[in-house]
Amino acid sequence: MDPAYIGFENVTKSFGTVPVVSSTNLSITRYSFVVFLGPSGCGKTTLMRMVGGLDSPSSGTIRLDGEIVSAPDRRRGMVFQSYSSFPWLTVEGNINFGMRYRNDLSVEERAARVTHYLRLIGMDDFRTSYPNRISGGMRQRVAIARTLAAGSDVLLMDEPFGALDALTRERLQVELRQIQREERKTIIFVTHDVEEAVFLADRIILFSARPARILRDIDVAAVLGPERPLEAREGEAFFRLRNEVLHMIRNETGGQR
Ligand SMILES: Nc1ncnc2c1ncn2[C@@H]1O[C@H](COP(=O)(O)OP(=O)(O)OP(=O)(O)O)[C@@H](O)[C@H]1O
Ligand SMILES: [Mg+2]
Repeated sequence: MDPAYIGFENVTKSFGTVPVVSSTNLSITRYSFVVFLGPSGCGKTTLMRMVGGLDSPSSGTIRLDGEIVSAPDRRRGMVFQSYSSFPWLTVEGNINFGMRYRNDLSVEERAARVTHYLRLIGMDDFRTSYPNRISGGMRQRVAIARTLAAGSDVLLMDEPFGALDALTRERLQVELRQIQREERKTIIFVTHDVEEAVFLADRIILFSARPARILRDIDVAAVLGPERPLEAREGEAFFRLRNEVLHMIRNETGGQR
Protein backbone atom coordinates (compact mmCIF):
# COMPACT_ATOMS: atom_id res chain seq x y z
CA MET A 1 0.00 0.00 0.00
CA ASP A 2 1.31 3.43 -0.92
CA PRO A 3 1.54 5.45 2.28
CA ALA A 4 1.24 8.73 0.39
CA TYR A 5 -1.61 8.22 -2.05
CA ILE A 6 -2.55 11.85 -1.48
CA GLY A 7 0.38 13.95 -0.30
CA PHE A 8 0.63 17.58 0.81
CA GLU A 9 4.19 18.88 0.71
CA ASN A 10 4.80 22.26 2.37
CA VAL A 11 1.47 23.50 1.05
CA THR A 12 0.52 27.10 1.83
CA LYS A 13 -2.30 29.25 0.55
CA SER A 14 -2.95 32.97 0.79
CA PHE A 15 -5.69 35.05 -0.77
CA GLY A 16 -3.98 38.37 -1.45
CA THR A 17 -2.12 39.15 1.74
CA VAL A 18 -4.35 36.95 3.91
CA PRO A 19 -2.74 33.62 4.82
CA VAL A 20 -5.38 30.88 4.87
CA VAL A 21 -3.29 27.71 5.05
CA SER A 22 0.03 27.52 6.95
CA SER A 23 2.71 25.21 5.68
CA THR A 24 1.05 21.80 5.68
CA ASN A 25 2.53 18.34 5.29
CA LEU A 26 0.17 15.40 5.22
CA SER A 27 0.12 11.89 3.76
CA ILE A 28 -3.15 10.13 3.16
CA THR A 29 -3.24 6.39 2.62
CA ARG A 30 -5.23 4.86 -0.21
CA TYR A 31 -8.66 3.51 0.79
CA SER A 32 -8.71 5.47 4.03
CA PHE A 33 -11.45 7.72 5.33
CA VAL A 34 -9.95 10.99 6.54
CA VAL A 35 -11.99 13.72 8.21
CA PHE A 36 -10.88 17.36 8.30
CA LEU A 37 -12.23 18.97 11.46
CA GLY A 38 -11.64 22.62 12.32
CA PRO A 39 -13.24 25.92 13.26
CA SER A 40 -15.37 27.84 10.80
CA GLY A 41 -13.37 29.85 8.31
CA CYS A 42 -10.09 28.07 9.07
CA GLY A 43 -9.45 26.99 5.50
CA LYS A 44 -10.98 23.51 5.18
CA THR A 45 -12.87 24.22 1.96
CA THR A 46 -9.75 25.85 0.56
CA LEU A 47 -7.74 22.68 1.34
CA MET A 48 -10.39 20.52 -0.37
CA ARG A 49 -10.55 22.74 -3.42
CA MET A 50 -6.78 22.41 -3.78
CA VAL A 51 -6.97 18.61 -3.58
CA GLY A 52 -9.73 18.77 -6.21
CA GLY A 53 -7.58 20.93 -8.46
CA LEU A 54 -10.08 23.82 -8.39
CA ASP A 55 -7.55 26.07 -6.62
CA SER A 56 -3.77 25.92 -6.54
CA PRO A 57 -1.44 26.27 -3.57
CA SER A 58 0.51 29.53 -3.19
CA SER A 59 3.54 27.35 -2.54
CA GLY A 60 4.24 23.65 -2.15
CA THR A 61 2.59 20.79 -4.00
CA ILE A 62 -0.24 18.33 -3.67
CA ARG A 63 0.21 14.93 -5.26
CA LEU A 64 -2.26 12.23 -6.13
CA ASP A 65 -0.66 8.84 -6.64
CA GLY A 66 2.69 10.54 -7.24
CA GLU A 67 1.45 13.08 -9.79
CA ILE A 68 1.16 16.78 -9.02
CA VAL A 69 -2.46 17.92 -8.94
CA SER A 70 -3.01 20.85 -11.28
CA ALA A 71 -6.58 20.60 -12.56
CA PRO A 72 -9.76 18.66 -11.84
CA ASP A 73 -10.07 15.19 -13.31
CA ARG A 74 -12.45 12.33 -12.89
CA ARG A 75 -10.33 10.48 -10.35
CA ARG A 76 -11.50 13.02 -7.79
CA GLY A 77 -15.19 13.71 -7.37
CA MET A 78 -16.60 16.47 -5.19
CA VAL A 79 -19.79 16.42 -3.16
CA PHE A 80 -20.89 19.67 -1.54
CA GLN A 81 -23.33 20.69 1.15
CA SER A 82 -26.07 21.73 -1.21
CA TYR A 83 -26.21 19.44 -4.16
CA SER A 84 -26.87 21.18 -7.42
CA SER A 85 -28.84 18.60 -9.32
CA PHE A 86 -30.27 19.32 -12.72
CA PRO A 87 -33.98 19.82 -12.16
CA TRP A 88 -34.84 18.91 -15.76
CA LEU A 89 -33.11 15.52 -15.45
CA THR A 90 -34.53 12.55 -13.56
CA VAL A 91 -32.59 10.81 -10.77
CA GLU A 92 -31.35 8.36 -13.41
CA GLY A 93 -30.48 11.23 -15.75
CA ASN A 94 -28.50 13.00 -13.04
CA ILE A 95 -26.44 9.89 -12.29
CA ASN A 96 -25.89 9.35 -16.00
CA PHE A 97 -24.72 12.94 -16.32
CA GLY A 98 -21.80 12.09 -14.03
CA MET A 99 -20.51 9.80 -16.79
CA ARG A 100 -20.64 12.38 -19.58
CA TYR A 101 -16.88 12.22 -20.10
CA ARG A 102 -16.67 8.43 -19.97
CA ASN A 103 -16.19 7.80 -23.68
CA ASP A 104 -14.75 4.43 -22.72
CA LEU A 105 -18.19 3.19 -21.63
CA SER A 106 -20.86 1.94 -23.99
CA VAL A 107 -24.50 2.96 -23.56
CA GLU A 108 -25.21 -0.47 -22.03
CA GLU A 109 -22.32 -0.18 -19.60
CA ARG A 110 -23.54 3.24 -18.50
CA ALA A 111 -27.04 1.89 -17.97
CA ALA A 112 -25.64 -0.98 -15.90
CA ARG A 113 -23.67 1.44 -13.75
CA VAL A 114 -26.73 3.62 -13.20
CA THR A 115 -28.64 0.55 -12.02
CA HIS A 116 -25.78 -0.58 -9.78
CA TYR A 117 -25.44 2.77 -8.03
CA LEU A 118 -29.20 3.32 -7.77
CA ARG A 119 -29.40 0.03 -5.86
CA LEU A 120 -26.39 0.90 -3.75
CA ILE A 121 -28.08 4.10 -2.54
CA GLY A 122 -31.42 2.32 -2.19
CA MET A 123 -33.24 4.45 -4.74
CA ASP A 124 -34.33 1.96 -7.36
CA ASP A 125 -37.92 3.07 -6.99
CA PHE A 126 -37.06 6.70 -7.67
CA ARG A 127 -35.27 6.18 -10.96
CA THR A 128 -37.61 8.35 -12.95
CA SER A 129 -38.34 10.93 -10.24
CA TYR A 130 -37.29 14.53 -10.64
CA PRO A 131 -35.11 16.20 -7.95
CA ASN A 132 -37.92 18.48 -6.76
CA ARG A 133 -39.96 15.38 -5.89
CA ILE A 134 -37.40 13.72 -3.61
CA SER A 135 -36.11 14.68 -0.16
CA GLY A 136 -32.85 16.48 0.63
CA GLY A 137 -31.36 13.24 1.96
CA MET A 138 -32.24 11.49 -1.29
CA ARG A 139 -30.70 14.31 -3.30
CA GLN A 140 -27.45 13.90 -1.35
CA ARG A 141 -27.53 10.17 -2.08
CA VAL A 142 -27.98 10.93 -5.77
CA ALA A 143 -24.98 13.28 -5.58
CA ILE A 144 -22.90 10.51 -4.05
CA ALA A 145 -24.11 8.00 -6.67
CA ARG A 146 -23.33 10.44 -9.46
CA THR A 147 -19.76 10.86 -8.20
CA LEU A 148 -19.28 7.11 -7.74
CA ALA A 149 -20.72 6.35 -11.20
CA ALA A 150 -18.29 8.81 -12.72
CA GLY A 151 -15.60 6.42 -11.46
CA SER A 152 -13.90 8.69 -8.95
CA ASP A 153 -11.37 6.90 -6.76
CA VAL A 154 -11.29 9.83 -4.38
CA LEU A 155 -14.36 11.48 -2.92
CA LEU A 156 -13.94 15.00 -1.61
CA MET A 157 -16.94 15.75 0.56
CA ASP A 158 -17.43 19.23 2.00
CA GLU A 159 -20.09 19.08 4.73
CA PRO A 160 -22.35 17.01 2.49
CA PHE A 161 -24.83 16.17 5.26
CA GLY A 162 -24.88 19.62 6.88
CA ALA A 163 -28.43 20.47 5.84
CA LEU A 164 -30.04 17.16 6.80
CA ASP A 165 -32.09 16.24 9.85
CA ALA A 166 -30.36 14.15 12.52
CA LEU A 167 -31.90 10.78 11.61
CA THR A 168 -31.34 11.07 7.87
CA ARG A 169 -27.83 12.22 8.56
CA GLU A 170 -27.14 9.22 10.79
CA ARG A 171 -28.48 6.83 8.17
CA LEU A 172 -26.38 8.38 5.41
CA GLN A 173 -23.27 8.21 7.60
CA VAL A 174 -23.73 4.46 8.05
CA GLU A 175 -24.35 4.04 4.32
CA LEU A 176 -21.38 6.16 3.31
CA ARG A 177 -19.04 4.23 5.55
CA GLN A 178 -20.33 0.96 4.03
CA ILE A 179 -19.98 2.25 0.48
CA GLN A 180 -16.45 3.44 1.19
CA ARG A 181 -15.49 -0.06 2.38
CA GLU A 182 -17.29 -1.97 -0.37
CA GLU A 183 -16.19 0.24 -3.25
CA ARG A 184 -12.69 0.78 -1.88
CA LYS A 185 -12.71 4.58 -2.05
CA THR A 186 -10.41 7.13 -0.51
CA ILE A 187 -12.47 9.84 1.15
CA ILE A 188 -11.64 13.27 2.55
CA PHE A 189 -14.65 14.55 4.42
CA VAL A 190 -15.03 18.01 5.98
CA THR A 191 -17.30 18.55 8.96
CA HIS A 192 -17.82 20.68 12.08
CA ASP A 193 -19.65 17.90 13.83
CA VAL A 194 -17.45 15.95 16.24
CA GLU A 195 -19.77 12.93 16.42
CA GLU A 196 -19.95 12.73 12.68
CA ALA A 197 -16.17 12.96 12.50
CA VAL A 198 -15.58 10.20 15.05
CA PHE A 199 -18.22 7.91 13.56
CA LEU A 200 -16.94 8.18 9.99
CA ALA A 201 -13.20 8.56 10.26
CA ASP A 202 -10.27 6.22 10.15
CA ARG A 203 -8.32 9.32 10.96
CA ILE A 204 -9.25 12.86 12.03
CA ILE A 205 -7.03 15.78 11.14
CA LEU A 206 -7.82 18.61 13.55
CA PHE A 207 -7.00 22.08 12.20
CA SER A 208 -6.39 25.34 14.05
CA ALA A 209 -8.25 28.58 13.36
CA ARG A 210 -7.12 30.44 10.22
CA PRO A 211 -4.49 30.14 8.91
CA ALA A 212 -5.14 26.38 9.07
CA ARG A 213 -2.40 24.40 10.75
CA ILE A 214 -2.58 20.75 11.76
CA LEU A 215 -3.07 20.52 15.53
CA ARG A 216 -3.75 16.82 15.91
CA ASP A 217 -3.73 13.67 13.87
CA ILE A 218 -6.11 11.27 15.56
CA ASP A 219 -6.06 7.57 14.75
CA VAL A 220 -9.74 6.69 15.11
CA ALA A 221 -9.44 3.30 13.42
CA ALA A 222 -7.01 2.16 16.12
CA VAL A 223 -9.74 2.72 18.70
CA LEU A 224 -12.99 1.88 16.87
CA GLY A 225 -11.79 -0.53 14.19
CA PRO A 226 -12.99 -0.58 10.59
CA GLU A 227 -16.62 -1.66 11.03
CA ARG A 228 -19.07 1.11 11.94
CA PRO A 229 -22.56 -0.21 12.37
CA LEU A 230 -25.12 2.19 13.81
CA GLU A 231 -24.62 0.59 17.25
CA ALA A 232 -20.99 1.72 17.25
CA ARG A 233 -22.27 5.14 18.33
CA GLU A 234 -23.66 3.68 21.54
CA GLY A 235 -20.45 2.04 22.69
CA GLU A 236 -18.20 3.33 25.42
CA ALA A 237 -15.16 3.60 23.15
CA PHE A 238 -17.11 5.93 20.87
CA PHE A 239 -18.18 8.19 23.74
CA ARG A 240 -14.73 8.34 25.22
CA LEU A 241 -13.14 9.31 21.93
CA ARG A 242 -15.84 11.86 21.16
CA ASN A 243 -15.26 13.52 24.55
CA GLU A 244 -11.51 13.50 24.04
CA VAL A 245 -11.86 15.23 20.68
CA LEU A 246 -14.27 17.78 22.16
CA HIS A 247 -11.71 18.57 24.87
CA MET A 248 -8.95 18.97 22.32
CA ILE A 249 -11.11 21.44 20.41
CA ARG A 250 -11.96 23.41 23.53
CA ASN A 251 -8.36 23.56 24.67
CA GLU A 252 -6.62 24.05 21.38
CA THR A 253 -8.89 26.10 19.16
CA GLY A 254 -10.36 28.35 21.83
CA GLY A 255 -13.67 26.55 21.75
CA GLN A 256 -14.67 27.60 18.24
CA ARG A 257 -16.04 25.09 15.79
N1 LIG B 1 -11.56 33.01 -3.24
C1 LIG B 1 -11.28 33.61 -2.08
N2 LIG B 1 -10.82 34.87 -2.06
C2 LIG B 1 -10.51 35.48 -0.89
N3 LIG B 1 -10.65 34.90 0.33
C3 LIG B 1 -11.11 33.65 0.36
C4 LIG B 1 -11.46 32.92 -0.83
N4 LIG B 1 -11.88 31.69 -0.47
C5 LIG B 1 -11.80 31.65 0.87
N5 LIG B 1 -11.34 32.81 1.37
C6 LIG B 1 -11.08 33.09 2.79
O1 LIG B 1 -10.28 32.06 3.32
C7 LIG B 1 -10.67 31.70 4.63
C8 LIG B 1 -10.94 30.22 4.71
O2 LIG B 1 -12.09 29.93 3.97
P1 LIG B 1 -12.63 28.44 3.81
O3 LIG B 1 -13.87 28.53 3.03
O4 LIG B 1 -11.57 27.58 3.29
O5 LIG B 1 -12.93 28.06 5.33
P2 LIG B 1 -13.70 26.81 5.93
O6 LIG B 1 -12.79 26.22 6.96
O7 LIG B 1 -14.18 25.93 4.85
O8 LIG B 1 -14.93 27.50 6.67
P3 LIG B 1 -16.40 26.89 6.97
O9 LIG B 1 -16.20 25.88 8.03
O10 LIG B 1 -17.16 28.08 7.46
O11 LIG B 1 -16.93 26.33 5.70
C9 LIG B 1 -11.87 32.58 4.96
O12 LIG B 1 -11.42 33.64 5.74
C10 LIG B 1 -12.35 33.05 3.62
O13 LIG B 1 -12.95 34.32 3.72
MG1 LIG C 1 -16.07 25.39 4.20
